[in-house]
Amino acid sequence: MASCGKYMLTISLICLIIAECDSSFVKLKCNSHNHGRFGHQSLLECIVTPSKEAEDAKILRVIWMKEGAESALIDTTKLPFEPRFTLAEPEWKKHNRNISMLVMNTKIADIGNYRCTVESDSGDDTVLISLSVSDPYGPPTISFEEKKMILTCKASGGFPEGRIHWFDEHKSNWTRSAKQDAIKTEDGRFNLTSRMELLAGSLMSKYTCAVYNSSGGREGEDHYELLPSVSTHEGSLQTSDLAKKIVIPVVFIGAVIIGLLLRIMGPTITNSVLHNNNVHQLWLDTLYSLFSFSYTSLMAGPTEMS
Ligand SMILES: *[C@@H]1O[C@H](CO)[C@@H](O)[C@H](O)[C@H]1NC(C)=O
Ligand SMILES: *[C@@H]1O[C@H](CO)[C@@H](O)[C@H](O)[C@H]1NC(C)=O
Ligand SMILES: *[C@@H]1O[C@H](CO)[C@@H](O)[C@H](O)[C@H]1NC(C)=O
Ligand SMILES: *[C@@H]1O[C@H](CO)[C@@H](O)[C@H](O)[C@H]1NC(C)=O
Repeated sequence: MASCGKYMLTISLICLIIAECDSSFVKLKCNSHNHGRFGHQSLLECIVTPSKEAEDAKILRVIWMKEGAESALIDTTKLPFEPRFTLAEPEWKKHNRNISMLVMNTKIADIGNYRCTVESDSGDDTVLISLSVSDPYGPPTISFEEKKMILTCKASGGFPEGRIHWFDEHKSNWTRSAKQDAIKTEDGRFNLTSRMELLAGSLMSKYTCAVYNSSGGREGEDHYELLPSVSTHEGSLQTSDLAKKIVIPVVFIGAVIIGLLLRIMGPTITNSVLHNNNVHQLWLDTLYSLFSFSYTSLMAGPTEMS
């Protein structure tokens, strides 16, 4: 038992010393959070920093891998590298210890964690670092569907998902009245569409839509001025709609009631008071012309206006 314990202790000590050696002679100093822009070059920064004892440490191998991937993007013992990936400093081998990786034409799929490994004659080191990617949205554009009274604001090709906000000329926030859709494009970015239905009672003369990126930065805006005719046209449409909805049923029901009353009362009236058989027909004719006149004038009114 005692000898077994001694063995364990010795092995642990050796391990400790090796670990100490590894980390003390060659170390990687990396930028732990790197940021790139879609379609541009992104730099993942790592520098080899040997300790004083290993100032002349010779770099034997550099490996860059994306976490989760099977094969390396860059392996200095296996040329060529993956397309779009290269070492930032071509002269890294000699005195230059800058082994940063450059990503060309950065894609949304490049977002993730990367493992940088250096092997040298004085020890190895590995560091895990991240890359995030963003892209500002294109300038937003507003369009207006007059028939449906809907304002639409579109901003395309941004990342991460942003928000479109609406304001009027008094800078009041109308965003709650709008509905936003974000569609993923083939390249992984977003197209934003925000629709806002305008209501007759609360029309403003000028609307602004503004695109905000995921961290709340305002990126672009567009303005739309409603023509004065839109609001007046909308106003008259609303009244005429109201007229059609309320007055027409009232006229119709009125006619039915009077017609029924005549059916019941008519013979009594004609027999007892007027003593004339044609009076019943006369009453009906008069009432009919009266109601048809009011009905046609109601229907004609709004049509002339629009
Ligand atoms: C490493 O090289 C890249 C590309 O030349 C450069 O942009 C970066 O600043 C260098 N990093 C350091 C710490 O020198
Ligand atoms: C506008 O309103 C939206 C939704 O309520 C809100 O998320 C946003 O922060 C507001 N923007 C400003 C500038 O007040
Ligand atoms: C996103 O918007 C761009 C520019 O308007 C357009 O060309 C593209 O087809 C849109 N993509 C999708 C998936 O809607
Ligand atoms: C959002 O916009 C602000 C201001 O323009 C900028 O500083 C920030 O980096 C942007 N964030 C993203 C994720 O694009």
